[in-house]
Amino acid sequence: MQISSALKQKFKEAKSVCVLTGAGISAESGIPTFRGGGESVVWKGMPFEQISSARMVKEDLDAVWEWFDYRRGLYKDCLPNPAHTVLAEWQERFEDFTLVTQNVDGLHERAGSENVIELHGNINHAKCENCETIYKMDAEDVPHQPTLCKNCQTKLHPNVVLFGEMLPVGSFEKATLKAANCDIFLIIGTSALVYPAAGLTEIAKSNGAYLIEVNPEETPLSDYCDESLRGKAGEILPQLGYYL
Ligand code: OAD
Repeated sequence: MQISSALKQKFKEAKSVCVLTGAGISAESGIPTFRGGGESVVWKGMPFEQISSARMVKEDLDAVWEWFDYRRGLYKDCLPNPAHTVLAEWQERFEDFTLVTQNVDGLHERAGSENVIELHGNINHAKCENCETIYKMDAEDVPHQPTLCKNCQTKLHPNVVLFGEMLPVGSFEKATLKAANCDIFLIIGTSALVYPAAGLTEIAKSNGAYLIEVNPEETPLSDYCDESLRGKAGEILPQLGYYL
């Protein structure tokens, strides 16, 4: 894949870079995407939109935990790939760098990225819906521990934003501010179907950012982007890293 000279120049001049990542960035780490090849993940006969929903928490919290314990079990042996590593390096290279992710796998943090805006939470944490205490869990804690909040004895919920739930307080506002004030906005490995995260792209573009997509497939945002780099994040990001 050839990186254009215009793009190299953009990277040289950029002072502020904002990146939005999705499941595709972790695909090369062995974590399946949600909508790979046009098909949605199904677990025990339920589409993931159903098992990962606020409604399901009310109806069967144990089943929701079983699904997230299963996913945490899959993730524990997965390692960050070169795309995560390049993004961790970029936080030192640009004057202002922001990493926003829809992923809950914690791989950006494991690669060394700091202050990641995790719009959808983190699968390695549990939270109390009542007093909002967050509990870090060890990857080995499958099934999850603890199950009850130590402060108020409420049943814990995976610290993941489910369908029908709000994003963590302040996270989208922070991401919006950064998207609205960046020179380059990169969208990596997301099908760009889930809002409000996908809307960050419009905010960036309408405020003058140069939009670059990294994805092996076309997405609803492809035509809207200034540049679409077709390929795997773990192969393209190291090439972009070179031009800094
Ligand atoms: P999707 O599974 O919808 O999309 C993954 C995207 O990654 C697709 O566009 C793929 O073409 C692309 N992709 C696959 N392999 C790649 C690679 N090696 N490098 C780069 N891109 C690759 O995942 P998301 O867009 O992240 O929300 O999904 C958004 C949200 O939907 C998730 O955060 C999740 C789900 O509901 C919650 O759990 C709240």
